[in-house]
Order: sequence, then C-alpha cells, then structure tokens
Amino acid sequence: MFCVREVTDNLYWVGGNDHRLALFENIHPLTKGVSYNSYLLIDGSKTVLFDTVDWSVCKEFLANIEYVLDGKKLDYLVINHLEPDHAGSIEEVLLRHPEAKVISTEKGFMFMKQFGYDVAEEKKIQVKEGDTQTFDKHTIAFVEGPMVHWPEVMLSFDTANGVLFSADAFGSFNALDGKLFNDEVNFDRDWIDEARRYYTNIVGKYGQFVQALLAKAAPLLPQIKFICPLHGPIWRNDFAYLLDKYNRWSAYIPEEKGVLIVYSTMYGNTEYAAQALASKLCQKGITNVKVCDASNTDTSWLISDTFKYSHVIIASVTYNLEIYPKIKTYLHDMKMLNVQNRTFAVLENGSWAPTAGDLISEFLDEEMKMINVLDPIVTVNSSLNKDKESDLDDMVDAIVESVNKTSIDVE
Ligand code: FEO
Repeated sequence: MFCVREVTDNLYWVGGNDHRLALFENIHPLTKGVSYNSYLLIDGSKTVLFDTVDWSVCKEFLANIEYVLDGKKLDYLVINHLEPDHAGSIEEVLLRHPEAKVISTEKGFMFMKQFGYDVAEEKKIQVKEGDTQTFDKHTIAFVEGPMVHWPEVMLSFDTANGVLFSADAFGSFNALDGKLFNDEVNFDRDWIDEARRYYTNIVGKYGQFVQALLAKAAPLLPQIKFICPLHGPIWRNDFAYLLDKYNRWSAYIPEEKGVLIVYSTMYGNTEYAAQALASKLCQKGITNVKVCDASNTDTSWLISDTFKYSHVIIASVTYNLEIYPKIKTYLHDMKMLNVQNRTFAVLENGSWAPTAGDLISEFLDEEMKMINVLDPIVTVNSSLNKDKESDLDDMVDAIVESVNKTSIDVE
C-alpha cells in the first residue's frame, strides 16, 4: 500500500499523518492531528529524500518511499532539521538504503550523533550556507536558518523547479487528511488558528531569527514556486498572505486590533467581572473581543491569541497571596516566548488581601519587554458590586482609547 501525492514533476510527498498523538512535544494538545512531511525527488538517474518522519509513522513512510522509488536505489538523504519528529526515521531509512549519502550541516551531524542516528563518515556530505549540490538536472542551494527552530536548521532550495524545503518554517498543526496544498483547504477559515498556535508556541521565542531568515529569503522570492514545510500544507500561491502572517508574528506585531480577556475564577465572580468588561467593550464599539478561562483553555491557545490581538485584559483571583497558578503559567509562557509590543490592563479579585494585580503588573513591567500596562488596576473584593462599576468603566474607556489609537501596520 502507499499514501503519496505528487507535489510537482518528479517530486512526491511521502510523509505521514498522525491523529493518535495527544500532545505535540508532549505538551501542546493536538485537536486535529499533525502531519510529518517528507519529500522524495526522482531526478533522472538520482533519487533524493528530503527529511524523514516521526517514528510513529515510520512504517507507512517506508512503504511510501518504496512505492515512489519503484525499485530504484536511494542516493541521497538531505536532513534539514534534526528534531526527532523529522529525524526519527533516519536510521531505519539508512538500514534499508545503506548506499544513501546523507547531506546536512555540521551541527546537523553533531545532533545526529547525539541522538544516536549513526551515519558512517564516508556517507556524510557536510554543507553550509551558500553551498550547492547538483544531482542530475536539479541543483539544490542550502540556506542556514539557525533557531528556526533549532540551531542546526537549514533550508534547501531547488533551483530547477523553485521548491523551497523550509523545515519548520511555514508549518502548522493539523493532519493533512489527503489535502496537500494551501489552495485545497480554506486556510484562513480552517487552518490559521492552528498555524498560529504552532508558530507562536514552537518558534515564537525566536522572532529575530525568523526575521533574519525572511530578509535572507527575500531575494529568492521571485523564484519560489512551492514552499514545502515539515508540517501542514504546501504553499503554491498566496505567498503574500503567508509572509504577512510570518512577518507579524516574528516582529510581534498584532494581527488584529481587539481585546483578549484572560481570566481565572474559583466561584464565578471573576468570570462575571470578565464578562462585564467584555459587554462594556462591545457596548462601546470594540466588538473584536475574545474571553478565555485560563483554567480550561490550554496555555498554547492563550499564547496564540496573545500574538493575534493588540490588547489583553488579565483578570486574576488572588490565591495564597499570589497570582492564580493558571495565570502564572500564562505569564511565564508569555515571557519565555518573548511576547512584546502589547497593551495590558489588569483586574484582581481578593476577599481579604488582594495582591494578584500588583504582582501581575510588576511581572509585565519588569520581566517582559515593550509592554504597556494601563492604569489603574481594578480591584474586586469577592464579587462585583455596584460601587465598582465606575472603575470598570474607567478601565474600558482607557482600553477603547488605546485600541483606537493603536496602529497594527507593518512598516
Ligand atoms: Fe517539527 Fe522543530 O520540529
């Protein structure tokens, strides 16, 4: 059996899809699976495989390779990224195709050794930025993409057919389920949220490196016909849409003017305050509002939405004189992933010693970069009472004013 698709003349997708994996990197919940993309080029007398797949889909992957090879030998294996969700089947491929030479960077080979993917010295072809390798009619140019998402990452550009093998860059969660190209899905409706969640949680920390790669790739753009990432659909048109998203995410520029409200609640009182704020915002014309309970929304989604919206209200219960733990995790992840260039407002709730507000504000001011915190913090004592209405109104007025004067233009 086989499950392959033709990308363009003599190039085939031979990867695998996995709906069984519950947690990507054993941390981020998957709702609609994930694909591990690998590509096989039949270049006249030479055959070239670009990356492998996660061990979980290795059996199907090997069957796909054998189907496309149709009795030919595998001559080359190009490894653009060593993370095991792509490199996990290197050894199995080499056991079945001992004649194959492996092309990767110096760091790539170092990681292969560290992970125990043994490659004989005489089989290694080490490449670096600017090197090229000609097989038969196809010449591949190698571009280093350090920290997109690991330090050894390289991208491979086929100058003959305009295919860019982009490693993790431009990837997305979600299994392909037969559909291979961006124009075979409604990306902006069905994929963008998972693409953003993938980017922001996996690569989000390394925005400056993504920006550097985008600048380096810019001269190649007129020649690029296909962008082939290691996860999610292949892009063969609408590059401007994709590049705008990547430019925004990596430069920490919001996609939309709007307000994300992230709250924690124990008995529903802080939730009520969050809903009151949302209602008041909508009443004043700011209807692009999303409300999330930090206790039942995985942090990866909160991070993704924080990259999307220009403004965030954090409403937290005080818990053991601290920030509520779920909100603390959200703050920690925002810092870890370099979230910046956002405006926050803070509401706290506490029955006898509310402290969460000052602690959150302090964290945003001192631990994060380029964050604006609107004054004042609103304090709720146990439940939202009539005497707090003017405080909520003041907060909403400050947010409305800030949203209206915020620019999300890309320079
Ligand atoms: Fe999909 Fe960085 O691996």
